[in-house]
Amino acid sequence: MKRILSGIQPTSHMHLGNYLGAVRNWVKMQEEGECLYMIADLHAITAPYDAAGLAAATREMVATLVAAGINPDKSVIFAQSQVPGHSELMWLLASMTQMGKLQRMTQFKDKAGKNAERVGLGLLAYPVLMAADILVYKATHVPVGDDQKQHLELSREIAGTFNHKYKEGFFPLPEPVIVGGATRVMSLRDGKEKMSKSAESDMTRINLVDDADTIANKIKKAKSDQDVLPDSKDGLENRPEAANLLTIYAALAGETLDKTIAQFAGKQFSEFKPALADLSVAKLSPLTKRMGELLKDTAEIDRILRKGNEKADAIASKVVAETRDLMGFWK
Ligand code: TRP
Repeated sequence: MKRILSGIQPTSHMHLGNYLGAVRNWVKMQEEGECLYMIADLHAITAPYDAAGLAAATREMVATLVAAGINPDKSVIFAQSQVPGHSELMWLLASMTQMGKLQRMTQFKDKAGKNAERVGLGLLAYPVLMAADILVYKATHVPVGDDQKQHLELSREIAGTFNHKYKEGFFPLPEPVIVGGATRVMSLRDGKEKMSKSAESDMTRINLVDDADTIANKIKKAKSDQDVLPDSKDGLENRPEAANLLTIYAALAGETLDKTIAQFAGKQFSEFKPALADLSVAKLSPLTKRMGELLKDTAEIDRILRKGNEKADAIASKVVAETRDLMGFWK
């Protein structure tokens, strides 16, 4: 039986890129195995964050996952900080992780930049915590985006090192699931940049909390180009904005890109954009509505989270205890 684990940081509202690129696949994966979906709040504090808003951001992420179709009776939805095994296993693994490897991680280099002497240890140790997140459940499959593939590779190496030192086969080597057909959604203002939470302008992204008018307006103002829409994929070369908007349409419609291209071939953006806005609103509004209802019912969100935390802890505390034993600690 597959055990699937993934995580998302509660850093801001979920946007269309997170949804189409990741969470929609999490929903599908519920059919394939036992799923654990984690709000990565311990990772969120590796960058400057708002302590007063952290709990609310965590609740919002739970509400978003449930509204998107993660079934809390079937999958375990939990907060990383509430399961002590994550931080404990991280410490146990830390001494088996080479500094050089951590310093060479692309994300660390990007985020630390020229400040490497002054950033916190947490930013450097980030991938060790991620390894602990996965191994503490002996997860076998980990859906991740491109940007996290390198961290997952390191998790496999850490698991291998542990197994070699203490017990062959103890930790399964987690498989990255780079989901086929997952959609890479780009910024609405620059088709060469990924849609991101951290981009300064909110006009670059569609948030799942946006209302219908906001969504329509963002699509209307999205960058496009002078041409009519092409009649084949080749015609999208050097037209990143057209490619992005058509890709979003196809993903929301649940169709292939070829089919969407055929549908709009030769049309102007002025005709295509309202169609995209209508489709976006139609597909996202049930989700937004459910999310709004849940967000008003904090008690229900807390109940979901408490139940998930307990289930996660039941697995994690056992694995940590076994790990401690293998490492020779007194008991
Ligand atoms: N670092 C991941 C991100 O920012 C989130 C994450 C934390 C995660 N722990 C994980 C993803 C473990 C997969 C497995 O996207």
